[in-house]
Amino acid sequence: MTDESTGFATRALHSARNQTAATSRATPIYLTAGFEFDDFDHAADHFGTGSGFGYTRTGNPTVRAVERQLATLESGVDAVLVASGQAAVVTALLTVAGAGDHIISSTHIYEGSRGLFLDNLARLGIETTFVDDIGDPDAWRAEIRPNTRALFAESIANARNDLLDIAAISAVADEAAVPLIVDNTLATPFLVRPLEHGAAIVVHSASKFLAGHGSVLGGVIVDDGRFDAAAAGHNAPHLVLPGRGGFPSVASRHGGAARIAYARESVAPRFGASPSPLNAFLIGQGAETLGLRVERQSRNALDVARWLAAHDEVESVDYLGLESHPDHALAQKYLDGGHGSVFTFTLRGGIDAARSFVDGVRVFTHMTHIGDVRSLVLHPETTSHSHRSRQERDLLGVRPGTLRLSIGIEDVADLIADLDRVLQPAREVAA
Ligand SMILES: Cc1ncc(COP(=O)(O)O)c(C=O)c1O
Repeated sequence: MTDESTGFATRALHSARNQTAATSRATPIYLTAGFEFDDFDHAADHFGTGSGFGYTRTGNPTVRAVERQLATLESGVDAVLVASGQAAVVTALLTVAGAGDHIISSTHIYEGSRGLFLDNLARLGIETTFVDDIGDPDAWRAEIRPNTRALFAESIANARNDLLDIAAISAVADEAAVPLIVDNTLATPFLVRPLEHGAAIVVHSASKFLAGHGSVLGGVIVDDGRFDAAAAGHNAPHLVLPGRGGFPSVASRHGGAARIAYARESVAPRFGASPSPLNAFLIGQGAETLGLRVERQSRNALDVARWLAAHDEVESVDYLGLESHPDHALAQKYLDGGHGSVFTFTLRGGIDAARSFVDGVRVFTHMTHIGDVRSLVLHPETTSHSHRSRQERDLLGVRPGTLRLSIGIEDVADLIADLDRVLQPAREVAA
């Protein structure tokens, strides 16, 4: 095929093909659109059963390896990796809900998720009701309707650092035979694994702590594998009824793993937010050191939060690790190894003080991102929460002097020196 009898172009294309396999210790990057079938029957079998790999949008060995890694870290049965956290949230929701259905969400969620619910899912016929007092199971229970298909919340929410009582809200979801979907981006599975406390599905923006290096976007959906067709089938006809042409139902083929199988077969590849195998590799590399990073970031964050709380110019610090935080006691039940590293604090000097802080920092990077190894800062009122009303921002804990920090792995003395230097002008502004 590629000896001297073949032409230059043919040799350029085919001489590197099917080189001898070797066992790479690092996850190999299968940067390919598709995979060569062994023969006629192999192709037919792949299309018939979905086994093996045919085309990267429906499956890729690098992506699969990282899915297994992340499923294990979250104590789940299986995972689907997608191109962003936003894609993970939409994939999870469209796996359980469709037109005419209803979901209940915490008010304290990422603005992109909120926009998705209010603008996009609403146009697809999925209605969302928001719960503000997320610690009160009755507040959730009161919103359950016959067509409710999921409860959605973040384990640690931005901006007030509210911590979800996962077991209590899972119990409400169980009563209604619907899944509790937890966005575990800020906490990470190093600190808490929501599936161990009764949640059914976990989603992440893998762009944040899971990758950690801030080089790629990614998202993941992890399922607990406990879908019960007998108890919850009436809320998930798409899982328990035969498919098109009488094809056996997802539940009959995948049992407890029906939800994640449906996400893999019928949601993620159809909506098409497939991850690049290269990005999957980079997420997997990052996740290998997740525990080390989050442990250090949490330690640094606690030192920074304590330092800020003691500073004259600082009005309040919303960090779970501080005893003053309303959910500090609950954190002892759920968090192990630290309290995370994303939190807000509010300067007495209001927006002017916030402006000079953001423009003055040198070690902190000013950007809209979190969970990076570098420390980051953002002013929510004029950026992420600028489309909210004053009243809504107050409810969410976003005021003119509020700044969001994501603490990295730098030497904490350098972070504090940066804060100390930059809070000098704030002192003048406040005076
Ligand atoms: C809690 C949370 N969930 C989801 C997302 C969306 O993730 P991505 O930016 O990877 O699409 C973000 C992004 O900031 C987030 O903070």
